Amino acid sequence: MKMRSFQWASLALIVAGTVAGLTLANAQSIIPKEPTSQANVEQSVHNPAPVDVPGQGSVAAGQHSASAVERGRYIAVAGDCVACHSIPGGDKPFAGGYKLDTPFGALLSSNITQDKETGIGNWTEQQFADALRKGKGREGENLYPAMPYTAYAKMTDADVADLYAYIKTIPAVRNPVDTNQLPFPFNIRLFMSGWNLLFFDNKPLSPVAAQSEQWQRGRYVVEALEHCAACHTPKNFLGGDRTGQTYQGAELQGWFAPDITSNPHTGIGRWSEDELVEYLRKGNNAFAVASGPMAEAITNSTQYLSEEDLRAMAVYLKQQGGEAPGKATSLAMSDPRMQSGQKLFSVNCEACHTSEGVGVSNMVAGFAGRSSVVAPHIDSLLNSVLMGSRGAVTEQSPTGAGMPAFDWKLSDQQVANVLTYIRNQWGNAAEPVSPDAVAKARASLGAKAQLTVQE
Ligand code: HEC
Ligand code: HEC
Ligand code: HEC
Repeated sequence: MKMRSFQWASLALIVAGTVAGLTLANAQSIIPKEPTSQANVEQSVHNPAPVDVPGQGSVAAGQHSASAVERGRYIAVAGDCVACHSIPGGDKPFAGGYKLDTPFGALLSSNITQDKETGIGNWTEQQFADALRKGKGREGENLYPAMPYTAYAKMTDADVADLYAYIKTIPAVRNPVDTNQLPFPFNIRLFMSGWNLLFFDNKPLSPVAAQSEQWQRGRYVVEALEHCAACHTPKNFLGGDRTGQTYQGAELQGWFAPDITSNPHTGIGRWSEDELVEYLRKGNNAFAVASGPMAEAITNSTQYLSEEDLRAMAVYLKQQGGEAPGKATSLAMSDPRMQSGQKLFSVNCEACHTSEGVGVSNMVAGFAGRSSVVAPHIDSLLNSVLMGSRGAVTEQSPTGAGMPAFDWKLSDQQVANVLTYIRNQWGNAAEPVSPDAVAKARASLGAKAQLTVQE
């Protein structure tokens, strides 16, 4: 089973636990007791476009108005609750049990259906709101931040109420899940108080006067609902967001979530607003085809967002700047790695990716001028080439073009050379890839060894 990986856990549990855990008594008293009122956050475009959660029929709304339920369903899609709270391909949406891999062990997601014993059927709206915005379980125990309460903390009261109305319509599924599978001492929830104290900013978004309503809405969807920063913002050694580096790219296990600031060299500065909207709706555009965790986020969530929300997100993201580093110089074509890479490319890759490295619009990823291809982190490149991958499946791109696996076909040296080539051809410039890095990825991804033919 494919596992989601989260970076927050790196050392966070142990260090925050030992450092802050010692002063826990104090720590807890500093954590605000009152729910932050978020009613003042502008919600000019409250968008109840009808969306269809996979596997989720509409159910009678009980005491909640049908329109609240419908709005709540949209919030659930935008918050991508289903992705973590269901087993992919299973038939029990929201019944939990999905495994989230962390360097410290596994967490399972909770059952959030209406089952009274194994789900959250007995929870009051206040308990539900506290889980979402304060990271508190039913008894007030700390949840682990794999549940993205650090983002949902910014949700408005109105959206939390609508979401609760929708959650009340999810049919009960009996499925007991013991979420905390972490080994001792990481399994001690109390330690997360220290982490929260250090990294949990539970302040609502306050309006930025100089910005348009569209920008404010975009920020709200990107930060409070879609939690894009959970994957795209680099983390410090305690697993908190690195200040000043928002959206500048971060490693996940086996993948790299690239820089999505408007930096033209390292980010998506060359993408127009339209192209960004297209990527989030279809899973592809003229530059890129989403794979891995991004394909999942698009398939489950962003493809269903309204046109207005996607556009607002694009407006907001296009204004996230990053420092432009100096451009590196390409490796010379005379370098033996480039020569080998070119041959390997023309035999194995060119048919799909084209000799100009531009790919096929909306189908095959292009390499020329793609900042994610020249990023210092090569995890996603190695993952795609060794394991193969499939683009996002969306309503507008129902087939999701496929990339075959090359683990069985190419040696570590060959994979390194072909990647070195695509990172240094067509005007691209980046550090060469070492066969060592390929060997490590082959082992950690569980890829096959190159097939050797017996003579
Ligand atoms: C990135 C993965 C992820 C996403 C997205 C996510 N959750 Fe969670 N959620 C978890 C995990 C993991 C836990 C268990 C945490 C723990 O036990 O400490 C959890 C716990 C919870 C709990 C507490 C349940 C209990 O029994 O203690 C609630 C309620 C909840 N989530 C609701 C939601 C809702 C509603 C959404 C969408 C707005 C959502 N979650 C999105 C991973 C996620
Ligand atoms: C679960 C982790 C995860 C989440 C959540 C996530 N992303 Fe990504 N994103 C990735 C990964 C990994 C890639 C690289 C995918 C690939 O190589 O095809 C990526 C790629 C992208 C790209 C393409 C960049 C390029 O240069 O090709 C854009 C744009 C993007 N994400 C935007 C977003 C936005 C906006 C959000 C919030 C709506 C978001 N992502 C949420 C993991 C994530
Ligand atoms: C049969 C067609 C085909 C062949 C042959 C092929 N690819 Fe791909 N490749 C694709 C498609 C389609 C995608 C986009 C789908 C996806 O990302 O999941 C892709 C994506 C990629 C990506 C991910 C790009 C990104 O934006 O993250 C890399 C890297 C890649 N290919 C490298 C190669 C290399 C190197 C070779 C030759 C050794 C090769 N491909 C051969 C079809 C192909």
